[in-house]
Amino acid sequence: MAVFNLFKLSMLLTLLSDLKFGSQTQKQKESVTLAGFPPQCNRIECPTYDVVYSGDGYEIRVYNSSMWATTSPIDDISFVDGTRTGFLQLFNYIQGGNSYNQQIEMTAPVLTEIAPSDGPFCESSFLVSFSVPKKNQANPPPATGITIQKWGQTYVAVRQFGGFVADSMVGVEAAALSSSLSGTVWSDAIKKSHAGEITTVYTVAQYNSPFEFDNRVNEIWFKFNM
Ligand SMILES: *[C@@H]1O[C@H](CO)[C@@H](O)[C@H](O)[C@H]1NC(C)=O
Repeated sequence: MAVFNLFKLSMLLTLLSDLKFGSQTQKQKESVTLAGFPPQCNRIECPTYDVVYSGDGYEIRVYNSSMWATTSPIDDISFVDGTRTGFLQLFNYIQGGNSYNQQIEMTAPVLTEIAPSDGPFCESSFLVSFSVPKKNQANPPPATGITIQKWGQTYVAVRQFGGFVADSMVGVEAAALSSSLSGTVWSDAIKKSHAGEITTVYTVAQYNSPFEFDNRVNEIWFKFNM
């Protein structure tokens, strides 16, 4: 219980105080070693998945069936600012700002789905989500501005990276995932699944509270169907 509350509180405090952790970011990027299952998921609930393939610099997961509480689209130039805006809406939701006045435990990861702008000075569109805890899935509280989405079986190509996520890192990490997938059967499936999009939609998953400095785990996700 204490861990959950600390996670929620520290997340909020940092979102509100807009700390940048400038010098930490570089140190983390150099020292972090990433391996598979995010350690945060030993402490707070995460949606379950199976790893169906481990490649060079990526893995392919299948999420069988997961339920997400998602904000309305948020238009912003900055990934960090858009995520903060969305997280504050979700924070309000889990603190009881919903039709049942029900408090809900925080889970990990927090997802930010990015529909990148198609011009250099345009805003991107962000959808921020967290997974609904198992105990609330039978009857998730409705709330204005929050949509509950149930994913069917969903494939995800995943690249992990460390540190505090900065705006400048997101596109670079997504490009790195794209490049490590190129020429694979997964790459074809991803292209097919995203065929209708003007710019390719992808997701950033963040697992840690902002006051954890060591072994921070973030992921780029490309969702697709097979
Ligand atoms: C997902 O579904 C498959 C096939 O039904 C099953 O073998 C697997 O254990 C499930 N994985 C999880 C994480 O529930």
